[in-house]
Amino acid sequence: MSEGELVIPVPQEWASRAKMNAAAYEAAVQRVEADPEGYWTELAQRLDWIKFPTKIKDVSFNREDFHIRWYEDGILNVSVNCLDRHLAERGDQTAIIWESDDPHIHTFMTYRELHAEVCRMANVLKAKGVKKGDRVTIYLPMIPQAAVAMLACARIGAVHSVVFGGFSPDSLAGRIQDCDSKIVITADEGLRGGRVVPLKANVDEALKECPGVTDVIVVRRTKAEVNMVPGRDAYYGDLKQGVSDQCDPEPMNAEDPLFILYTSGSTGKPKGVLHTTGGYLVWASWTHEVVFDYRPGEVFWCTADIGWVTGHSYVVYGPLANAATTVIFEGVPNYPTNSRFWEVVDTHKVEIFYTAPTAIRALMRDGDEPVKKTSRKSIRLLGTVGEPINPEAWLWYYKVVGEERCPIVDTWWQTETGACLISPLPGCTPLKPGSATRPLPGVKCQLVDADGKVLDGATSGNLCLTDSWPGQMRTVYGDHERFISTYFTTYPGKYFTGDGARRDADGYYWITGRVDDVINVSGHRLGTAEIESALVGHEAVAEAAVVGFPHDIKGQGIYAFVTLKADVAPSDILQADLKGWVRREIGPFAAPEAVQFAAGLPKTRSGKIMRRILRKIAENDTSNLGDTSTLADPAVVDDLVQNRVG
Ligand code: WT7
Repeated sequence: MSEGELVIPVPQEWASRAKMNAAAYEAAVQRVEADPEGYWTELAQRLDWIKFPTKIKDVSFNREDFHIRWYEDGILNVSVNCLDRHLAERGDQTAIIWESDDPHIHTFMTYRELHAEVCRMANVLKAKGVKKGDRVTIYLPMIPQAAVAMLACARIGAVHSVVFGGFSPDSLAGRIQDCDSKIVITADEGLRGGRVVPLKANVDEALKECPGVTDVIVVRRTKAEVNMVPGRDAYYGDLKQGVSDQCDPEPMNAEDPLFILYTSGSTGKPKGVLHTTGGYLVWASWTHEVVFDYRPGEVFWCTADIGWVTGHSYVVYGPLANAATTVIFEGVPNYPTNSRFWEVVDTHKVEIFYTAPTAIRALMRDGDEPVKKTSRKSIRLLGTVGEPINPEAWLWYYKVVGEERCPIVDTWWQTETGACLISPLPGCTPLKPGSATRPLPGVKCQLVDADGKVLDGATSGNLCLTDSWPGQMRTVYGDHERFISTYFTTYPGKYFTGDGARRDADGYYWITGRVDDVINVSGHRLGTAEIESALVGHEAVAEAAVVGFPHDIKGQGIYAFVTLKADVAPSDILQADLKGWVRREIGPFAAPEAVQFAAGLPKTRSGKIMRRILRKIAENDTSNLGDTSTLADPAVVDDLVQNRVG
């Protein structure tokens, strides 16, 4: 450890309790080197297989013979692993605690009840003609039926595509069209922070552009009157009347698709990240166990929405595969008060709490009192995910929320990676505030420079993974070539994460953030291209360039440079209108913080926008804009600097 650096040692209690202590970590790291087949075979034994795999790993990251296969002759069903196998011993244990937006309303569902409900929903889907391999779009709020719908798809071999309830009708339509789903499961309305989210109305709007959708299943959440299209729409409550609570699970090959989840990249439309059955569940459940040192029956709360991968892996699949009691929280951290998180922790005796740095920073701003007035004594472990956490926020989380009792696991991963790849292990890893620390056993990280030269030792570079892990995405739905070209061609033969990182002398990784044109706003991932494409869709806009800039709470904010069509005059009204436009086109979380009207954008002579310069202007770091001599018209920069907004 370098001198003067803050390092928090592993508490004795964790060193002796944790299954993955320092010795076990070292042993696993060595074993996976010496005997990868044996190591990965053992990992698969944590699941119940109909047929245990004999072919364990078959991977090539080289374009000529590119393929990724894990456990390829294994047969299993994910819902059986998350439900049926727990029934004998834990049928009466609470599987899901649902904490509604209203702090007075919460419900509990046992494993037996969840199993029955999943089977009913599976039978309803079957009755609608859904078969193995069909795509089902799920657009639901954070209610138990969201998990039920995912598991029901898994039970019958349908491929779910969950779309976050904060996405606009247009974004929803694009996702439905891309995977060609014929069925949408939604709710009348959602409720978040006391505000209504018009989910069914959004679906109606989206479906104007999705003629292929034959059925909409509507879960009643608020019981509001909503438009129901005869022949297309039906209430789930009606459909499930008299339906059997038994449903034979579909035997699935390990490499059959489990779900698609759309995520943003630096170019083009969002990509349908496809995860398969066996490897994904092995990785989600194993990481859930070792990263959180999870024991069956403990109350685990991941605050992420199931519309993001964090919700898939750590609200639903990982915890339920491990017989957890998982909390599904419908609300927001500051409603009705900014003590809400900690009150929920106290109400349900939450032992492990996992959230995003943006939430921590927002709560930190409100001071210690809203935290300190709650007990929180049930919490043993804290986690963060989704974006870099600044040491100040880390320390506040550690000292004020965790009272210096609870280790913090800062978990680095991506939609593409399925589950955690770099993270401390509570019984093993001394912590450094702001570092995701070390790769999990079997995860092969490498830092390279812009030319792909491998960098050794303490250094900074672009983060690559040189070998596969079971939870890796397998393809971009419908566009395998895009999968290969996006992730495996920048540095041939390696998976490029899109992140930059520093590695210190102890081999700890410090993720510095995206090095591509992806922006992370409050842990929500957005492509600059997507926002630009929304902006140029507005009748007043000729051209747009979007960059991220550092934001105290959100991590990054969105800054848009817009040139208007010749006959349009800039105005404050238009500025507000454009922000609202992006909100409606993509979703509220995508609204730009700043819109600057520009006479022209800085371009090279070949017409490429120089985002480096725009980033500097957005950051208000205009003293050193670097070399502008290659610009077609260097004068535009002065104009941009002078008219900077905010
Ligand atoms: C991007 C992936 C991980 C699931 C939720 C987000 C950033 C994620 C961390 C972390 C620093 C992080 C990266 C990554 N990120 N976790 N612990 N420290 N950065 O999944 O939407 O696919 O976003 O989130 O930039 O590439 P995602």
